[in-house]
Amino acid sequence: MPTVHELYELWAHESELRETLARSLGPRGLDSLYDTFAQLDPKPGDLLVDVGARDGKHARELAARFGVETVALDPVPQHPDVREGTAESLPFDDASVDWIWCRDVLVHADIPRALAEFARVLRPGGAAVVYVTLPTERLEPREAAELRQLCALTDYSADDVDAAARDAGLVEESVDRLGTEWRERMLEDNTWDARADLLELARAQRARETYVAEYGAAALDAARGGAVWGIYQILGKLCPTVYVWRKP
Ligand SMILES: C[S@@+](CC[C@H](N)C(=O)[O-])C[C@H]1O[C@@H](n2cnc3c(N)ncnc32)[C@H](O)[C@@H]1O
Repeated sequence: MPTVHELYELWAHESELRETLARSLGPRGLDSLYDTFAQLDPKPGDLLVDVGARDGKHARELAARFGVETVALDPVPQHPDVREGTAESLPFDDASVDWIWCRDVLVHADIPRALAEFARVLRPGGAAVVYVTLPTERLEPREAAELRQLCALTDYSADDVDAAARDAGLVEESVDRLGTEWRERMLEDNTWDARADLLELARAQRARETYVAEYGAAALDAARGGAVWGIYQILGKLCPTVYVWRKP
């Protein structure tokens, strides 16, 4: 750690380090999840279930890229292609599904029940590609508790996820801790407006009473949750992680 003296000397000059830090590290972007799936070698006609599909756009993209048959499920379907259903109760027979795609959903789910369902419906040799954002040691307990409320999260840790997969009988084929990569890429490509999120957070804090009176506490909390999510990811308090679990 620098002393005060060192600090102001260091800050007084342009440094090679700052120039280095301004250069991209070539972060992967959101499409890397499709690359992960491609490595599993899916075949046209295989059945893929997109669990927590929201508007089904990833299911449609998976069908277009890989020729797989897709069923998109969500408890709050936002497109006619998406059927109502939850991760904890999948409407499929045992061993009837080739692939599960579950992107950014388990944070809201009962993870042990959901992974037990994944294991039940997957055929032997089938696999689940799961993107889930995990809390890190940088996320302080009060931040974690508030985030759970703002974003309707269940109370889970990386260890809980590992234990749930083991208990379900799923075998971890890979775990890819993306960390800040996707967010770096979004900032580099200007596809994430972090400035807007930071301003929303500041205004939501400074004029909370006014906004609550006008829009209600739930709406304001949801807005804060959405804005803080990316900020916590880029600060390393949340770690987006991709698991591939295989049904033996
Ligand atoms: C952050 S969105 C992700 C949507 C989509 N998978 C994507 O990556 O764009 C989370 C989705 O999970 C759904 N969801 C919440 N609880 C769920 C549950 N228990 N089982 C399945 N989906 C759930 C929500 O309705 C929402 O559509």
